[in-house]
Amino acid sequence: MCFYTIGYRAFASLSVQETPLEDVNGMVKNSHLLETKSRIDSGDAKIGIIGLGYVGLPLAVAFCEKYVVFGYDSDEDKCKMLTKGKSYIDDIPDSSIKNLIGKRLKVISRESKLKECDAVIICVPTPLDVRGIPDLSYIAHSADIIRRVAGKGMLVVLESTSYPGTTEEYLGHAIKGVGLVPGVDVALAFSPERVDPGNKKFGIKNTPKVVGGVNEESTELAASLYGSIVEAGVVKVRDCKTAEATKIVENIFRGVNIALINELALIFEKMGIDTWEVVRAASTKPFAFMPHYPGPGVGGHCIPLDPLYLSYKAKQYGIVPRFIELSREVNEFMKNHTINLVMAAMDEAGMEPLDATVAVMGIAYKKNISDTRESPAAEIIEELSKRVGKVLVHDPLAKNIHTHRGDFKTSTMKTIMGDADCLVFVADHDEYIVQFPGAFKGSKAKVVIDTRNMFDAEILRRMGIKYRCIGK
Ligand SMILES: NC(=O)c1ccc[n+]([C@@H]2O[C@H](COP(=O)([O-])OP(=O)(O)OC[C@H]3O[C@@H](n4cnc5c(N)ncnc54)[C@H](O)[C@@H]3O)[C@@H](O)[C@H]2O)c1
Repeated sequence: MCFYTIGYRAFASLSVQETPLEDVNGMVKNSHLLETKSRIDSGDAKIGIIGLGYVGLPLAVAFCEKYVVFGYDSDEDKCKMLTKGKSYIDDIPDSSIKNLIGKRLKVISRESKLKECDAVIICVPTPLDVRGIPDLSYIAHSADIIRRVAGKGMLVVLESTSYPGTTEEYLGHAIKGVGLVPGVDVALAFSPERVDPGNKKFGIKNTPKVVGGVNEESTELAASLYGSIVEAGVVKVRDCKTAEATKIVENIFRGVNIALINELALIFEKMGIDTWEVVRAASTKPFAFMPHYPGPGVGGHCIPLDPLYLSYKAKQYGIVPRFIELSREVNEFMKNHTINLVMAAMDEAGMEPLDATVAVMGIAYKKNISDTRESPAAEIIEELSKRVGKVLVHDPLAKNIHTHRGDFKTSTMKTIMGDADCLVFVADHDEYIVQFPGAFKGSKAKVVIDTRNMFDAEILRRMGIKYRCIGK
């Protein structure tokens, strides 16, 4: 049966006493799982979270509104920071941690504490290995933990993004390995995380949560848990695979559309057409168009990596996913294109690259966050440092960035303005938009490369600055 429900609250409001033990509309019927549901509904449940990173920590904070949360992370430094009331995630202020830590949020160093939990949610990384192949070792480690802590009545949810089949392959297998039956003794579900770091409008509460379990009871139990904190409602899908595929589709959709507009931007640049104005105009169509914008490439933990999880799996089924691979190629090329724009503009300005200092502005992978994972800035910095005299980096939020040519620490704005001959804007932090173009007046820079259409070309040209923008 396929069920799709937004606004799970109708079900969540039913008390256990009102719920007969026979199957009614696919509700929870196993007695152990019913007890768990009862604790979820009454707010008495204990929630364990494995992995307190960009996904796990905000989720832990959100669950603390209703439940006691046990947070388990293998990174001791993160655990120490939390116990001191300090946050390491931009969207979570220190004050939130200070108010919760030791009370509703308990950071645990012994995984055995997870045995006390009614639900354990896994939010560990899913990177690619050096060959570009899914690295599921973190999920495998989490499955080992589940093997050691799972008991009858527990709900286990995977939130880490992976290819369809992962939840059953790893966690289902682990649960079966200790003689428990997934969906009967232990409820098992996948619920993709949709967090968008830095997004002030949409967060955990007002973004619908997709949930798919190994059976209806698992889906229902997971839906009742998430339904208790997600005001936008829960979207129940038929199984784990469908929920896993949903997340992958969301990220592939974004990666492919960004690649499409990047390719169009390369064409329009040659044709003297302003891509940004085209997208703005096309966006006035009230249906069947969604704006995407060109840029220096995609970054972060999701868009550059997740599509390759499906690509890997698709090949096992004998299908080479051309859209996914082509879009990766186009998005990767945008870093080269940024370098080409830098070199062309410096040439036009009569600058000798080997004598020039170039500053990469905005090293985070996107605006208004400090996360530099998979940031296109890293390769841009690497390539520039082969071609120009000196590379400086700046970011109002990130402190440094790791590249194959070593770590680059940010310089102060004063140093950048005094030393850099060329500024390459990669992340469009609000702070830059507020400070510039006014701040160019005090700057030594004669060349500006704008990868996000942040500045008015005319103003810069009037200041005698050579200006190039992707897609114009
Ligand atoms: N960051 C995002 O914006 C985002 C959005 C949606 C989905 N996701 C997905 O969510 C998952 C987690 O991503 P993230 O950005 O939070 O990663 P992250 O690296 O910020 O956090 C993961 C945490 O898990 C911890 N960890 C690793 N192995 C562990 C273990 N065995 N036991 C306990 N802790 C362990 C790490 O120390 C780290 O703190 C990934 O699959 C990612 O693709 C991320």
